[in-house]
Amino acid sequence: MNELDILKNNYSILAAKIPFVPRVAVVLGSGLGVLIKEQDVEYSISYGELESMPVSTVDGHSGRFIFAKIGGVPIVAMQGRVHLYEGYTAQEAVRPIRLMGMLGAKGLILTNAAGGINRSFSCGNLMLITDHISSFVPSPLIGENYDRLGVRFPDMSEVYSKKLRELALASAEKLGIELKQGVYVQASGPNYETPAEIKMFSALGADAVGMSTAVEATAAVHMGMTVCGISLITNPAAGIGDKPLCHDEVKREADKAADRLSRLVATIVNNISNY
Ligand code: HPA
Repeated sequence: MNELDILKNNYSILAAKIPFVPRVAVVLGSGLGVLIKEQDVEYSISYGELESMPVSTVDGHSGRFIFAKIGGVPIVAMQGRVHLYEGYTAQEAVRPIRLMGMLGAKGLILTNAAGGINRSFSCGNLMLITDHISSFVPSPLIGENYDRLGVRFPDMSEVYSKKLRELALASAEKLGIELKQGVYVQASGPNYETPAEIKMFSALGADAVGMSTAVEATAAVHMGMTVCGISLITNPAAGIGDKPLCHDEVKREADKAADRLSRLVATIVNNISNY
């Protein structure tokens, strides 16, 4: 079965069950799964109940789509994303993103945990992604192109929508939340980077590094979705700080910032009507 058939089958399974057409899709990164309160969930389905949907193997839960309303706006969220380091191809890793787009989501808000490369960043800072470097991981668009999704050679000159960036900055200001800005580089993981790699990323213009997001944004732009990305800086990248990196620290910092990030995402979603 080709990729488009897999997507169409899953679309048919979901379209019959979901309570509404989602306007916005949200991806909840490491430790950020609490952005949506359980009482607001109108419908959820685990990835494993769908066809050939990659399941997350980190953090103890295999992942699910959640349908909820935030301030009256119908959204679909991924609680638990899939990463290349779990052994999935880039095309498999973006399957859930494409499915959310096919279900009707026009906007996509990507959140992630990231290491800070820019020395002016501190742990707990939020960084609005202005652009990304994805040259170190395979493109999710390699292979047959599905014209129904998008063109063979999509333009990537404004992956992170200027309008949504302006909305994110205005929302942060209204909430009194500091929002840095910078370029995100996707590394494959699962190992953290070496100090030499971080020096290279810094020389290339990256401000933060993580193991997700760029491939998802690429697939979303290919299919015409409008993308916004926010990184939570959970640690100084390798060689920037003086401590070895560990996943527990990343999760701890993510937990601490979850409330701030959820208020920011909620405000962006609430005001998204005119992008
Ligand atoms: N590197 C890559 N991915 C990450 C990091 C990091 O330092 N922190 C959180 N995710």
